[in-house]
Amino acid sequence: MPFPSIIAIDGPAASGKSTLGYRLARKLGYLYFDTGVMYRAVTWLALDNGTDVYDEAAVTALAESARIDVRPPTRDDGRTADVLVNGQDVTWEIRRQDVESKVSVVAAYPGVRAALTEQQRRIGLRGRVVMVGRDIGTVVLPEADLKIYLDASVEERARRRFTELQARGVSASLEEITAAMRRRDELDSTRQVAPLRPAEDAVIVNSDGMSIEEVLAYVVELCTREAQRR
Ligand code: DC
Repeated sequence: MPFPSIIAIDGPAASGKSTLGYRLARKLGYLYFDTGVMYRAVTWLALDNGTDVYDEAAVTALAESARIDVRPPTRDDGRTADVLVNGQDVTWEIRRQDVESKVSVVAAYPGVRAALTEQQRRIGLRGRVVMVGRDIGTVVLPEADLKIYLDASVEERARRRFTELQARGVSASLEEITAAMRRRDELDSTRQVAPLRPAEDAVIVNSDGMSIEEVLAYVVELCTREAQRR
């Protein structure tokens, strides 16, 4: 009865997949790997060194040459991983608004995706991993032992993001956040390569009205059921 070793969690922005993935990985003693940080790291690098993010060839070259490391956290400042680009800690920089607003553009470039997918796959295949993203179950690790597609309505996701920003002292309007969320959903789900969609064998979980504890308990139960099924 092997317990699922490779667990994929996909879903739209602010669906709660990062929190779920982190908590699940901690509970199981697995590596937590949020693949979104890699797309953010390439975007940050382009903005930082003055590369035009709309210059596909230049951004792709950056993704192919940059050394992006994602490691277990070494600082107790709320981070769930250390993110380093060419040795520089950019864990918080990649959450900046300018990165946020351009990352979907960078994530749509096939060459960028190819470079990052290869690295993600290598790490994922080692097993005992909870990998979080948009295309983990469909493209990065189609052989995952358990695939979760975590969804929530755009209104609920915007509300969560709004509360999160307020807690961090960042002022924002709920209407603007909702509009930005819709735009990002549209870009992520209509791009040519690896669009956001559930894998055919994914379990779709809608977290509207559910607490993180309830979602976590449900996913742990799914893991146990999956182990019994094998
Ligand atoms: O999950 P996030 O908000 O940190 O993701 C940032 C961007 O990267 C988002 O536009 C979707 C994209 N992304 C992707 O295309 N594929 C992944 N596996 C992870 C993230």
